[in-house]
Amino acid sequence: MGSLLQPSNFLLLFLLLCMMVIYFLTKGVEKGEDNFFLNHVHVHDDDQHMHAHTSSSSSSSSHMELSWNIFFHKDDLKLGKKIPLYFPIKNSSFTPHMISKQESNSIPFSSTQLNKILEFFSFPKDSPQAKAIQHTLTHCELPPLKGETKFCATSLESMLDNLRQIFGLGVNFEVLTTTPMKNLIPNLQNYTILEVPKEIIATKMVGCHPVPYPYAVYYCHGQVSDNKLFVVSLEGQDDGQRVEAVAICHMDTSQWDPHHVSFRVLGFEPGAAPVCHVFPRDNLVWVLSSPSSAT
Ligand SMILES: *[C@@H]1O[C@H](CO)[C@@H](O)[C@H](O)[C@H]1NC(C)=O
Ligand SMILES: *[C@@H]1O[C@H](CO)[C@@H](O)[C@H](O)[C@H]1NC(C)=O
Repeated sequence: MGSLLQPSNFLLLFLLLCMMVIYFLTKGVEKGEDNFFLNHVHVHDDDQHMHAHTSSSSSSSSHMELSWNIFFHKDDLKLGKKIPLYFPIKNSSFTPHMISKQESNSIPFSSTQLNKILEFFSFPKDSPQAKAIQHTLTHCELPPLKGETKFCATSLESMLDNLRQIFGLGVNFEVLTTTPMKNLIPNLQNYTILEVPKEIIATKMVGCHPVPYPYAVYYCHGQVSDNKLFVVSLEGQDDGQRVEAVAICHMDTSQWDPHHVSFRVLGFEPGAAPVCHVFPRDNLVWVLSSPSSAT
């Protein structure tokens, strides 16, 4: 991974380091892990495959899930504006750990091998875990939408291999994540934008988010569409919490499912305005390194 190991890529190095530490601390796959699916929330608006899933999960239109407090209007992306946001944190004892490529290659990852997978992890066929595994596999195997690049990564190495193919050989890329400045206490509150939001010029971008599985699996996808990426400095009005949030604005929503939760939250119809959202903390947003930082 020579080209990745630029001194300027400290974020990536930090991430690699964290994952290696996590891996060595957690010593591989444990069988029969019960809780891997409990803390998962599906909120990925740019993921058209998940739309039906997200929007059908609530029938009452007045019902507002905490986790939907990621969406905001593009007009609010200005210095001094206040946006109500909620940044959940997952209990790390329920978070599945990253395994090595070697280990992941030894476990089947295909819906045609579901029985073998369930046997490997000792999950009964009708268990909620089996359903979650099946859902994740099906989701990973759906063909990409028009103009979409997608893959599921079952290890950090396979994620980087796929990213290298997407970004191109010999090209530097880096990861952006939403980062709290101190231990975050989840709290729905108004956050004030402390600085002029910094636009990241990302001609290519791949977002990766964890999906329910007995070990860490990331669903990664990127779209060729009109998106704007920002880093936004936020301060919680109630608790003073500072967060450096990664946010995206989808400029053209005209082709989106009208039932998508973002329209319910923001109160307009597809195509009427951009939909913006912050990324949850566990999402990885991969972009080409900007020429200035890729010295
Ligand atoms: C995480 O869950 C475990 C098991 O339920 C619990 O003992 C622990 O206190 C939780 N940790 C946090 C930070 O909530
Ligand atoms: C955010 O501020 C608005 C306007 O002051 C207020 O109506 C709303 O209840 C606040 N939201 C939260 C979550 O505190």
